[in-house]
Amino acid sequence: MVDRAPEGRLEVAGGVLRYMHDCNWKMFVENLNDTMHPMVAHESSAGTARKLWAKEPADKPKPMVIEQFVPFVSGYDFFDQMGVKIYENGHSYTGVNFSIHSAYSAVGDYEKAMAASYGEERAARILGEVRHNTVYYPTLTIKGAIQAIRIARPIAADKTMIESWTFRLVGAPDSLLQRTLMYSRLINAPTSVVGHDDLHCYRAIQEGLAAQGNEWVSLHRRFSPEEVGHLAGNYDGHSEISMRSQFQTWRRFMLASMAGESAAVVGEGA
Ligand SMILES: [Fe+2]
Repeated sequence: MVDRAPEGRLEVAGGVLRYMHDCNWKMFVENLNDTMHPMVAHESSAGTARKLWAKEPADKPKPMVIEQFVPFVSGYDFFDQMGVKIYENGHSYTGVNFSIHSAYSAVGDYEKAMAASYGEERAARILGEVRHNTVYYPTLTIKGAIQAIRIARPIAADKTMIESWTFRLVGAPDSLLQRTLMYSRLINAPTSVVGHDDLHCYRAIQEGLAAQGNEWVSLHRRFSPEEVGHLAGNYDGHSEISMRSQFQTWRRFMLASMAGESAAVVGEGA
């Protein structure tokens, strides 16, 4: 994210958005690398924006708001091929190959300023990395492509404050700051619509977990026995491996101070 600033510096700008969620913090963090929900959960918000814009001529420049909404309702293949990268200790990111931020239109002289600072080749490499969400487990989450950070602050077992911070890329045109502020207002704010779709799901899941019918929550999608004990690597976007990694890490954290337990879970499988 710092490399995306022509002068190699970021400034916190635009204040902070705080959004209270009636759910456990883990649901928000799981969701960041989940690629099966957007086209369903965001159909009524982003899907409506897509329908509205479908009536416009194909060559008409998209307003920033349409550019930001529409990719949320991309198809299953898009999100699968986006890819997920897994590191040890619950860290991961989606958008190994491309992301919902990849097709944003060029902004003013930004690319020229980047090439002047870093040289053509390195600038292209920096701007070519367009991740979806990076999870620094447990609670720091970064959107490098649009210079925003979200932090999940656990308040209670069923209450989480989500803080969104936005940044100015020093040396970049103001319209990039405008873009990150618009994204956070549209997607992450108490006044947004997309964030409400997710919150609705989290609340339903929180209630569902209180049910007694089944003591298990399945996170087995695209599980492979080969991942047991060494999760790090690149995987298809639809794999739930990021969640398996998060919960294995959480279990290790929770057992770490219990004598005789921590050693037993190292290397344990799903
Ligand atoms: Fe979502």
